[in-house]
Amino acid sequence: MTPVVSGFSKLSKTDKIKWLVEHYFNNDQNTIAILIKYWNSDNALQQLHDEFTENTISNYYLPFSIAPNFLINNKQYTIPMTIEESSVVAAASKAAKFWQTRGGFHTEVISTTKVGQVHFIYPGSYEKLQQFFNLIKPNLLSSVSHLTKNMEKRGGGVLEIELKDKTTEIDNYYQLHCTFETVDAMGANFINSCLEQFAKTITTEAKEYSNFFDNEKNIEVVMSILSNYVPQCLVKASVSCAIKDLPSTPFLSSQQYAEKFVRAVRIAEVEPYRAVTHNKGIMNGIDAVVLATGNDFRAIEAGAHAYAARNGKYTSLTHAEIEDDTFFFSIEIPLALGTVGGLTSLHPLVKLSLQLLKKPNAKKLMEITAVAGLAQNFGAINSLITTGIQQGHMKMHLMNILNQFKATETEKKQLINYFKTNTVTHSEVVAQIEKLRA
Ligand code: MEV
Repeated sequence: MTPVVSGFSKLSKTDKIKWLVEHYFNNDQNTIAILIKYWNSDNALQQLHDEFTENTISNYYLPFSIAPNFLINNKQYTIPMTIEESSVVAAASKAAKFWQTRGGFHTEVISTTKVGQVHFIYPGSYEKLQQFFNLIKPNLLSSVSHLTKNMEKRGGGVLEIELKDKTTEIDNYYQLHCTFETVDAMGANFINSCLEQFAKTITTEAKEYSNFFDNEKNIEVVMSILSNYVPQCLVKASVSCAIKDLPSTPFLSSQQYAEKFVRAVRIAEVEPYRAVTHNKGIMNGIDAVVLATGNDFRAIEAGAHAYAARNGKYTSLTHAEIEDDTFFFSIEIPLALGTVGGLTSLHPLVKLSLQLLKKPNAKKLMEITAVAGLAQNFGAINSLITTGIQQGHMKMHLMNILNQFKATETEKKQLINYFKTNTVTHSEVVAQIEKLRA
């Protein structure tokens, strides 16, 4: 059994690897070689990455790709995408090119408010608590002035603090429900710092006011934390075109295509099993931009899926309709993104991504990211209602299979050519490689 290790984080990188390989890889030197192979030869750059988190022993590469030809509000964009799934960037680029000549994407930021809460227990009367809250509210606000000064200069800060009675759900449970504007910062540190200060202030004020509370027990703070549920940090992106300008195949007219597309979205609206996969495809595009721009994709995922279930039933984040001769397709999604702070000024590829996007503010990045999600969903539904998803998917996957079999450049050329007119399946690729090598 591997012994419990103490003080592991204080070991040098080399000693951490030594410990790992000794206890988990039977002292295999090749494991060490693999880990070292991924170190960057630029020591300063490597140190930067080492210090992003604890116990870093190597780097984990993901492809950094770009999807050109996005026309958004009449401006051209090339969108950076960090994702490993083989067909995502190709689908985004294809959708971008399609809408490029049909008016492009249109976007609108609906709201940018974020939420944080101090959860506390108070075993007294609500009326008393409310009076107390009204009395100390100015003190709560002034107690964070040292934190909000700079944010206010940039146009943000604390928007509101409300006292919420949650005692019907848990005995004696109340909240300070706080709303914030964090402008171009994602704002997690700002919000959490403010909340922790509110928690301290309300606790000390409650002690000061103990006579007022008639010696009832004081407030006990359980926790203070931002919420990743951000239904008020919302952006909309849409496309539309004449139905006759939609794709058609020998088996499907543009009109039939539009109707089938709308029906496919409608299925995702009413059927949660489909909605989850439908939204997963949207998040393929969104997460890729979120990662490339150094934002927190777990926060974005959590917020998006919670929003999709906001009415008590999980549903589609996109909607499509036909009105007269026009096809409309749109997404509405909460995206709490930042373009300052965090990794944005630290990670060289994040900086490059933001530069590529013409140094957007947070609102602009919300718009671009929502567009990537809508484009991705358009690409997925387009495939699903015409050729099926596997055709494009397996074409892109072909390269992965070829690499798995260490195909040479000549073999790759020959097989890519062969699969231009033949269906890609794992077994067929293997058969063709073997045939070539025989
Ligand atoms: C695969 O990563 C994503 C899709 O399944 C999305 C969808 O079904 O809409 C293709």
